[in-house]
Amino acid sequence: MNLELVLGTHPPTNAAKTSMNRSKTLVACHKLLLRCYSQGKSQLKINGTHYDTHPEFTNISGTVLSLSDRALHLKAAHPIGILRKQIEDKLNSTSDSYCVYNNFRPVVTVEENFDSLGFPSDHPGRSKSDTYYVNDKHLFRTHTSAHEMECFGNIKGFTTRESPRAPTDKPGFLISADVYRRDEIDRTHYPVFHQMEGARVWKRSQEPVPQGTEPLHIQQLRFDLQTLEEQLHQENTNLVVHDDISLEQNPKQDYMSDLEVSLCSQHLKRSIELLVAQVFNKKLASMRAAGSNTQLQVRWIKAYFPWTAPSWEIEVFWQGEWLELCGCGLVREQVLLNAGYKPDNQIGWAFGLGLDRIAMLLFEVPDIRLFWTMDDRFHSQFHEGQITKFKPYSKYPGTIRDVAFWLPQDQRQKAIHENDLMEIVREKAGDLVESVKLVDKFTHPKTNKKSLCYRINYQSMDRNLTNDEINQIQENVREELVNKYGVTLR
Ligand code: DAH
Repeated sequence: MNLELVLGTHPPTNAAKTSMNRSKTLVACHKLLLRCYSQGKSQLKINGTHYDTHPEFTNISGTVLSLSDRALHLKAAHPIGILRKQIEDKLNSTSDSYCVYNNFRPVVTVEENFDSLGFPSDHPGRSKSDTYYVNDKHLFRTHTSAHEMECFGNIKGFTTRESPRAPTDKPGFLISADVYRRDEIDRTHYPVFHQMEGARVWKRSQEPVPQGTEPLHIQQLRFDLQTLEEQLHQENTNLVVHDDISLEQNPKQDYMSDLEVSLCSQHLKRSIELLVAQVFNKKLASMRAAGSNTQLQVRWIKAYFPWTAPSWEIEVFWQGEWLELCGCGLVREQVLLNAGYKPDNQIGWAFGLGLDRIAMLLFEVPDIRLFWTMDDRFHSQFHEGQITKFKPYSKYPGTIRDVAFWLPQDQRQKAIHENDLMEIVREKAGDLVESVKLVDKFTHPKTNKKSLCYRINYQSMDRNLTNDEINQIQENVREELVNKYGVTLR
């Protein structure tokens, strides 16, 4: 049996109508999934493709399905879209080296998301408690790195493989997309958020060069690095950069020379510093005008990612704390080989940047749910190309409900992970939930039974809530916990 999910793709005509349509879409998605799950064996049609469901793997929710067609990163006057465009323009401003991909579909293979990047088979990111699976082979991408292999394979002259897209002459790429993770619920976490991936490669030249001259790719790297450094200087970015990590605990790959590692990582770091300066300096300037007089400080710290070595993270000092911005590193040779490259033939770097957290800081948006609202009082405040401060239209009062339960002792009962509870609350409350927190944990000394208590804070961004509607939602949450996980309510 085929269950079709018809997700609207037309731009809203007016906010109220759209909001109603969205809730209809959401209800339709829930119903279809419910039918699909209860009938055991069926198919889902997502973005025009049919997928078999899998009894143990399929765990996508109606909420996530209904959000998968929103493409906020493509909206020119949405904070996420404005930020995405500014970063792309900046990185392409001098050398135009990056091919831009912004239309990848959210469903990818397990191979693309994990295997091709060298994730070990027991990596926690693969678990069903953290990831939305369509079936055992397909999932909603958990990061934009899932498209790295395809984009590396699309660079002309590097791969031996046929590319499904028109190959590009540009030696780098930028990918922006929505990404999906099962996670906690609070003002900065939402099951769908946005990332930008960037990468750049250089072909190693094997041609002999006159004595005393460096290989061509080293000359090219030096030239590219110098161009970047001049740009940073000209733009007077004025960053204070702390970078004192040694390569000792951050080992390089054997196939790269020390000089290649040094030049390639400098190019990577200067590119990201340019990006950070672009994004934060303007904001800092407006804050300086308001009296604070500080320079932007960033620091490089050591990191680990399965597909890069060495790897780093950059943090920026913002409003009194170090904020983690972006992971990056020199791409492991195996990833490039997976993309059809020849051994020893190229070197390159990659980074991945979360857009939502930065957009929240720049536009001063206090709750991530606002990015998803259909309320015109939010959207009318933003304009293409402009970073402006969000003016809250109203703060609607919240209301708190606790849910306490004993975990089942029966081993045959499906274990409940905290993210499963979050998912139930998301499904039942939608965007009416602001946060969910564990407030009590207790083991009975005699029976050894475990009890948990979670506090749910209901609050709408757009309107007042009634007691009746919250009571009903809370009742639905409680019922679902019993039905799905066999807990005993207290
Ligand atoms: N995909 C990583 C994440 O979601 C971010 C990232 C880190 C991307 C390092 C990269 C990279 O390309 O090199 O956390």
